[in-house]
Amino acid sequence: MRSDSASFRPVQPFSYKSISLFILLMAVLLLGGCSQSSGDNQQPVAHSPASDTSMSDHSMNMDHSAHMGTTAAVPEGSITAKPADVTTKQQILTAKEITLTARKAHLEIEKGKYLPVWTFNGSVPGPQIEVTQGDIVTVHLKNELDVPVSIHFHGVVLPVAMDGVPGVTQDAVQPGQTFTYTFKALHAGTYWYHSHQDSLNQIGKGLYGTFIVKKKNTVPADVDRTLVLDEWNDPNTHAPDREANTAALSSNMGMYNIYTINGRSGSYIEPMRVHTGDRVRLRFVNAGNMTQLLYINQPAYRVVSTDGEDINEPQTLSHGLLRIAPGERYDVAFTADQTGVQVIGAVGDSDFARSMRIPVVTETSASTLSDQQVNDQVNNQQNKLTTQTVSKWPELDLTHYGQAAPSQFNLKQSYDRDYRMTLNMGVSNGQTAYTINGQAYPKADNMDVKTGDTVKITMTNESVNEDHPMHLHGHIFQVLSKNGQPLTGSPLWKDTLNVRPGETYVVALKADNPGIWMFHCHELHHATMGMMIDLVYEDYVSTYKPNPQVNNIFE
Ligand code: C2O
Ligand code: CU
Repeated sequence: MRSDSASFRPVQPFSYKSISLFILLMAVLLLGGCSQSSGDNQQPVAHSPASDTSMSDHSMNMDHSAHMGTTAAVPEGSITAKPADVTTKQQILTAKEITLTARKAHLEIEKGKYLPVWTFNGSVPGPQIEVTQGDIVTVHLKNELDVPVSIHFHGVVLPVAMDGVPGVTQDAVQPGQTFTYTFKALHAGTYWYHSHQDSLNQIGKGLYGTFIVKKKNTVPADVDRTLVLDEWNDPNTHAPDREANTAALSSNMGMYNIYTINGRSGSYIEPMRVHTGDRVRLRFVNAGNMTQLLYINQPAYRVVSTDGEDINEPQTLSHGLLRIAPGERYDVAFTADQTGVQVIGAVGDSDFARSMRIPVVTETSASTLSDQQVNDQVNNQQNKLTTQTVSKWPELDLTHYGQAAPSQFNLKQSYDRDYRMTLNMGVSNGQTAYTINGQAYPKADNMDVKTGDTVKITMTNESVNEDHPMHLHGHIFQVLSKNGQPLTGSPLWKDTLNVRPGETYVVALKADNPGIWMFHCHELHHATMGMMIDLVYEDYVSTYKPNPQVNNIFE
């Protein structure tokens, strides 16, 4: 259990619905107007999710305003009049020293529909930071929001003081202040960064970007794109038909009603135009809270990397499914040799699923399809790629993919530490909680290690229908078995492992990065409601002392 539990934000259940509604109403009246540049377009309270009858009682727990610390997190609706602070195009920052400024803006999420967001450098996703393996990276975080923020580099192995967890590794960066992160980019691969202050709310509002570490001396792909998946709640938009929403099994997800790729939805997603013969690399990042199941309508592709770690000799796949859980990354590579339009999209027949799609348009240099023509072809293709059709496509199984190779850990060796993590729902302090071994953070036992230990962890998901994508900070771990079956393909290294209902995984890691590290579910509703522990090095002495005056909200 953490000693500075004063910084814990208790999760308030929605058992006092009417009181909460009243508080919501007051919050709108008091704070809504000044936190918004578009006061005229303020949503009436009747549109807040708390009064949305399509939501289950369970999802009532998810209303951010119920447990927000410092901000009025009353859902703000989209507007149709173009605001002054519309988001800019995502920057690609290749310098080793950069500045990320957190500030408000409005995202044009569909044509003519603007959603209030929080951004890094005015875009959602924020800038893509591109460095080369071995570079020393320096990121100045400047906070121009009126709430504290931080940056956590998700999946990146770095010193704990740079991990960006308020109250654990640093104080949250206050409005008007700057904090500098600096670390060496040790591993090449696809990563992302996001605020770790009040992260369910702040990532939900757009405070994230992508972080790409390129290998030294490698030939880059002809086309290299990062595709960030996310979902949003717009109280002005009708709620998704949950029955049709096949990938979104979680009961929390009724609130999300706009799905995006790189901050855009449906026909507003820019088609990806490539030339015949181009070697294409697509880096998928899931920044949302929903597991997305994508169909990859490509005749020949390979999944070359996950969570930044390469897969050894991946086999070529054809027309298959790729499941991407919150926080996970997958790199897909193919050569564009079939001219025309091939859609990659979310499985599902609802408008919501159909709006998460990226057309890959392969053209010889001569022909050029207009955006309208592309759109028509996308619609045709989506009409054919119904759930019924694509659900027969094979889903990638990383436990039997690629070629076996010597690796660091195996199931037979002995380990210095042997831990279990049983993931479930439960009750803590009379409230619904998400638990690890029956405990909800911060009332949870640490996972203690000391530097040099080998650590084996067995994770079991006992939830009936919810994925638990478990993310460990500061380390990568090797996945050794799934449901008792040893992995047969490539050695598999992850920092975020999606443990699906009923599944058990055994993973192993080397305790080689002293510190206090969060280990939590990246479905951030679950993390906020307790599904989190600390991996604590017994031989580590932190020099950081949380400032009690500062509102640190580490999850
Ligand atoms: Cu993506 Cu605790 O983080
Ligand atoms: Cu979870």
